[in-house]
Formats: sequence, structure tokens, C-alpha cells
Amino acid sequence: MEILAFGVQADEKPLIEKAFAGHHDVRCLRVNLDEDTAPIAAGYEIVSSSVNADLDHRVLQTLAAGGTQMIAQRSTGFNNIDLDVAERLGITVARVSYYSPYSVAEFAWTLAMAVNRRIVRASIRTRDFDFRLDGLMGRDLRGRTVGVLGTGKIGEAFTRIAHGFGMNLLGWDVAENPACLDLGMTYVEKERLFAEADLISLHVPLLPATQHLIDAAALKAMKDDAILVNSSRGGLIDTEALVAELRAGRFAGVGLDVYEAEAGLFFLDKSLEVVEDDTLARLITFPNVLVTSHQAYYTTDAVGQIIDTTVQNVLDYTAGRRGENVLVPRTA
Ligand SMILES: NC(=O)c1ccc[n+]([C@@H]2O[C@H](COP(=O)([O-])OP(=O)(O)OC[C@H]3O[C@@H](n4cnc5c(N)ncnc54)[C@H](O)[C@@H]3O)[C@@H](O)[C@H]2O)c1
Repeated sequence: MEILAFGVQADEKPLIEKAFAGHHDVRCLRVNLDEDTAPIAAGYEIVSSSVNADLDHRVLQTLAAGGTQMIAQRSTGFNNIDLDVAERLGITVARVSYYSPYSVAEFAWTLAMAVNRRIVRASIRTRDFDFRLDGLMGRDLRGRTVGVLGTGKIGEAFTRIAHGFGMNLLGWDVAENPACLDLGMTYVEKERLFAEADLISLHVPLLPATQHLIDAAALKAMKDDAILVNSSRGGLIDTEALVAELRAGRFAGVGLDVYEAEAGLFFLDKSLEVVEDDTLARLITFPNVLVTSHQAYYTTDAVGQIIDTTVQNVLDYTAGRRGENVLVPRTA
């Protein structure tokens, strides 16, 4: 059988082809799966989608009409898939429930330290042989307070690194993680975390309950010189509200690997086009903001695990087995 994989990066293509070799043929497309591209899947029983696919009811209906019966999503998060509609249409959906949480946790720290120590600005300066230090002053993290929202797999890995820095650990989650408690984390209400943390990092999933978790009130409750990092999902932050606070001169640094309107932008080359998204354009102009395009997971280790699990999910489906990564159908 030939599988159709959407949203495949150039680095990923040979890895995907190698992983499927001996099992199934695979056709890799650069474009994301969305309303415009869904018709390409006509005749493909199994389709693989990436994190920025837009699998709403229209796309799912187009896929079902074209004969697609299985979607193998190459990510942990699945907030981009309307599971109720998939279930109604009889489409099996599987995801990658586990891969290296260190990939994302280490990247969140990369963003935090890059904005704290002004690394991007420093690099731009030295490339221009400007060796002044003006405006490059950062802060020691030892003894300062980190606030971790979401202390699951990635939040825990992030907390271990914070512990290594010698930081005070505050956590917020619906469930306390014993490993974080062992590291000395204190679980608090999010209001206390916002008020006390010098560095805040987001690691909760995007759910109706967490949509705009960081709204105008949350942002105003944070320290003026806090560092805010989001490597989870863009929809956790009300970006317009964040821009308003940044315009007021607040925050020592903001590192964003995700953006609420990233679909249709991130993973694509838009350098020759007029930027129509004024919020993103404004965000990128702030000297204390660093935006990356959803690359936190992008390590050889994590991508290798994602691809291997996706192949296994496809093999389970073709063998008629219900694997542990199946989201839909919801019951065996
Ligand atoms: N930028 C990237 O490349 C990238 C890659 C992978 C994952 N992610 C994001 O990171 C998120 C976390 O991943 P993980 O593997 O640590 O997941 P996880 O399930 O191990 O942890 C999520 C934590 O959030 C908590 N939580 C869930 N709902 C909550 C709520 N309403 N209020 C408070 N806490 C809540 C859970 O109790 C859990 O401890 C994913 O959902 C995904 O959105 C981003």
C-alpha cells in the first residue's frame, strides 16, 4: 500500500522513506493537510499528518469521501483534529503519545537563556564587528524563581534543568508530579505563580480549559521583568494581549516557539511574501522577543521516535490491531 504523508520537512523525508521501507511505499508532500490540499488524498486509505495540519470537519469529510480510513498524526498534541467528526466518519486516528520530552524541555531552556542573555542581538552585533555590551545585560538564574505551568513529561524535564540552575521551583497543574515534588517544587495557585516567578514556562496541553490561559489579566499579574516562554501551543497565550503588554515596555524577554495563528505560516518559506499577520509582524519587531517556528521537538532523537511510532501505528492498523496510540475509535 502507498501512504500519503503531508507536511514533511526536507530533513524528515529520507528518514520517513527509510522507516517505511520493507513495509509500505510512502509519498511525502511538503504541503500541510488542510482544506485546499485534502483532495490530493483521494484514493489513499492511510494519510499521515503533521502538527500544523488542519483536520476540521470539512477536511475530514473530504478525506472520507476520497476513501481515507486512517490518519497517522506525527505529533503528541491532537488539538488540530476534530475527533468527534473522525469517529462519526469511521476514520481511525492515531498519534505519537510519547517521544523525547527532553527535546522540547531543552529547547524551552534554549529560548529562556537566549532572551535572558540577549544572544540573538549579541550575535547580530558581532557579525557586524560591533563588540559593545550596551543593552546585553542579563540576570543570573541561581536563587531566582521559575514557574512551570504543566508538570507532565516535558514540564518535569524542564524542572530538572531548573533544579540544576539552583532555582526555586513553583508548579501549577491539575495533578502534582511526585518527581517534581522530590526536586523541591511547591505547587501553588496560578495567581501566586504569576506574581512570584521570574521565569514562566508553559507545558500544559491546549484544551478548552487552557485556551488563553495567559490572558491580559495573567500577563498583568506577572512581574514587569519576567521572562515568559511558550513551547507548548500558541493558543495558550492571548497574543494580542501580549503585544499590548510588550508595547508598554514589560517583560525582560519572551520566547515563543508556537503562535496561535501559526498554521499556514510555520514550517513554510514566507520570506518573499507580504506579511499579512500584523500581530506576528509586530511581535517579531520587539527586541526582547524571540520567535521560532515550532522547532522544539526537532531533534534527531525525537523525530526518529516520532517516525518509528508512526510506522508502528500504521502497521498496527493494517494488521487490524488496536495500538496504544489510537485516539479514534475511542473504544476497542
Ligand atoms: N513545541 C513543540 O515542538 C512541542 C512538542 C511536543 C509537545 N508540545 C506541547 O507540550 C505539551 C505538553 O506535553 P507533555 O508530553 O509534557 O504532556 P503531558 O500530558 O505529559 O503533560 C501535560 C500536563 O498538563 C497537565 N494539565 C492538563 N490539563 C490541565 C489543565 N486544564 N490545567 C492544568 N494542568 C493541566 C497534566 O496534568 C499534565 O501534567 C503538549 O500538550 C503539546 O501541546 C510542544
